[in-house]
Amino acid sequence: MSHRITLIDGHPDPDPARFGHAVADAYASGAEQGGHQVRRIRLADLAFPVLRSRHDWEMDAPPPTVAAVQADLLWAQHLVIVHPLWLGAEPALLKALLEQIFRPGFAFPVGQPTLQGGLLKGRTARVVVTMGMPAFVYRTFYLSHSLKSLKRNILAFVGIGPTRETLIGNIEGIGPGGRRGWLDRIRRLGARGV
Ligand SMILES: Cc1cc2nc3c(=O)[nH]c(=O)nc-3n(C[C@H](O)[C@H](O)[C@H](O)COP(=O)(O)O)c2cc1C
Repeated sequence: MSHRITLIDGHPDPDPARFGHAVADAYASGAEQGGHQVRRIRLADLAFPVLRSRHDWEMDAPPPTVAAVQADLLWAQHLVIVHPLWLGAEPALLKALLEQIFRPGFAFPVGQPTLQGGLLKGRTARVVVTMGMPAFVYRTFYLSHSLKSLKRNILAFVGIGPTRETLIGNIEGIGPGGRRGWLDRIRRLGARGV
């Protein structure tokens, strides 16, 4: 079955040598080969202001760049976010985009938001995180802290889930063969649209 997939390449660095871009490309090409429709958002190419006040969050219309990302989210049945781990979490610029997108009235009702009240219900997700440390260290010693926060405090809160995860660790140590192996796995996930 064909899915509508929105893919956020959440690497702030436009340098094409960044592995995160190759991961996003692999997912997108797999998905297209699998017959899915894909819309891509490249954080590194987006210009938007950092949100600075509750007033702006609640009262202002989002900037056009952000409104376009919101439209791609509404269109999607499945959301994929690829990001590197920076200081134990998603890069600040990606968090800034999520704050811009997930506003009251768009992501949850204005007033008293509840855990079941997310307005983006009916969408599933996958988060792919690349990191310098081995993935098992992130899982066992750091308890996947930032991933849990992204899945539960952000995505589940706005109604998106279940969210699957892929952790690619030891990114600087796995060599070209290890990286190729991961890109193949990611391509296969894309082909299945999961
Ligand atoms: C600013 C910065 C902070 C980083 N912080 C962490 C970290 O907290 N834990 C970790 O395992 N790796 C950390 N890394 C390593 C990156 O996660 C790793 O270089 C990246 O996932 C590699 O993918 P890329 O080629 O797409 O950048 C950091 C890298 C940078 C540039």
